[in-house]
Amino acid sequence: MKMTKELNKLFNEQIKLEYDSAFLYLAMSEWLEQNDWAGASHWMEVQYKEELAHAEGFVRYLKMKGEPVELLQLGLAAKEWDSLLDLFKAALKHEEFISASIDKMAEQAEKDGDKASRLFLQWYINEQVEEEVNANDNVTGVSRCKGHIGALLSFDREKGTRSWSGEEVPLLLF
Ligand SMILES: [Fe+2]
Ligand SMILES: [Fe+2]
Repeated sequence: MKMTKELNKLFNEQIKLEYDSAFLYLAMSEWLEQNDWAGASHWMEVQYKEELAHAEGFVRYLKMKGEPVELLQLGLAAKEWDSLLDLFKAALKHEEFISASIDKMAEQAEKDGDKASRLFLQWYINEQVEEEVNANDNVTGVSRCKGHIGALLSFDREKGTRSWSGEEVPLLLF
């Protein structure tokens, strides 16, 4: 079935939000690098790549469906944070905002009776659970260090071990 105008609009807006997320995390990676948190900077660079994959997943789905893809003007990413904790709190808040946005898309797909789109969005709904857990772990991880440099350095070292699998968002769920 053809997508409704409303759902197509939400998909195109979400593509923009995923690219906004990518730029936000790249900006965070840069801030972390400049502030000598090399491990956390690497972690955020991996997150940047994940966000590109999220955006591309939406683009590929619209293309597969023969739906128009509109590349909207991106927002301006923040580039200054007060502290490591402040940065990770901002990332968590951002992911909560993204989860709400994807939930809105799923609600629209349900309202439209667009079962394929609703199923496609399931991957993103699950992914957001993981994203919020990761973002929350980072906030907890830094909070627990209570400013002790040794603990923070070990947190940073651990963040440096994150690997990027280069996975694509599946177009269909089986
Ligand atoms: Fe995302
Ligand atoms: Fe993820």
